[in-house]
Amino acid sequence: MPGHHTTNGFDLDEFLARATQAVNRALDRFLPPATVRPATIHKAMRYSLFAGGKRMRPALCLAAAEACGGSWAEAMPPACAVECIHTYSLIHDDLPAMDNDDYRRGKPTCHKVFGEGIAILAGDALLTHAFEILAQSRGWPRYPHPRLVVELARAAGSLQLIAGQVEDLEAEGKKISASRLQYIHERKTSALLCCAVRLGGMSANCTPRHLRALTNFGYHVGLAFQVIDDILDVTQTSEKLGKTAGKDTRAKKATYPSIVGLEKSRQIAESLTQRAFAALKPFRGRARALEALATFLLQRDR
Ligand code: IPE
Ligand code: IPE
Ligand code: MG
Ligand code: MG
Ligand code: MG
Repeated sequence: MPGHHTTNGFDLDEFLARATQAVNRALDRFLPPATVRPATIHKAMRYSLFAGGKRMRPALCLAAAEACGGSWAEAMPPACAVECIHTYSLIHDDLPAMDNDDYRRGKPTCHKVFGEGIAILAGDALLTHAFEILAQSRGWPRYPHPRLVVELARAAGSLQLIAGQVEDLEAEGKKISASRLQYIHERKTSALLCCAVRLGGMSANCTPRHLRALTNFGYHVGLAFQVIDDILDVTQTSEKLGKTAGKDTRAKKATYPSIVGLEKSRQIAESLTQRAFAALKPFRGRARALEALATFLLQRDR
């Protein structure tokens, strides 16, 4: 989106540039080199991971750690683990058997370049590798490793992300209720965003009260994120999005604009963002990166 992003004197552009660079470096270290045998799979994993994603989930994870007085270094394993899960979910989401998309992150999709078999395996490998990366987290008495693993496994599993993807497929071509659409969005998108924020807090050994605040924040920002994604599919160009625009309408996807209309969808995204802001109250102004990110995610145009 246009202009420089400053909220209450907080320089979000500078934060995002630093976060993206730190996350990209860490991901490069965490992943096997592209030359390691079998090179095809490591090339495919890196192709999608470094294709130019916005890195919003890792940024949220680092920002949550900051809000809780933690460090980027300790938030980096969960931040990268979540980005690996997210990228795997996109590779599989784009497969012909699912959304059948040819472009992602401004490039041909993984299966277009490497074939469906390798794309499926690259997704599987990123999903698995995410847990190996997460295992490199520090862990605290309050948040030991099993707790972190359960956190990520639940968000990515058949009750959350996969549940949302299943019902998203099953809702294609159907006129579903707004509450069923909310069920889908909570799971396919909000769960992993919320998990990114919570793991950031856990990496900083946050208090239970702060964890509850982060959960509330992540849930609402995550839901707003998918409402905006649905809106952008209708209002933006493929060039801007780096993925094929107008696909939801053509595929008869259940989306917010298709069910409640564009104007109401915008209002819903705004009120969800307001609820996200309200959730940050316990931080008493010490969650400035999270606040700026919530504003940015509402106003984003890609
Ligand atoms: C796209 O996520 C898929 C959704 C869950 C809406 P992003 O918009 O974060 O995609 P990248 O990571 O920037 O490519
Ligand atoms: C994707 O939702 C959600 C997951 C990948 C879990 P969409 O299908 O709307 O995402 P895009 O629009 O293809 O990025
Ligand atoms: Mg989809
Ligand atoms: Mg899709
Ligand atoms: Mg979409």
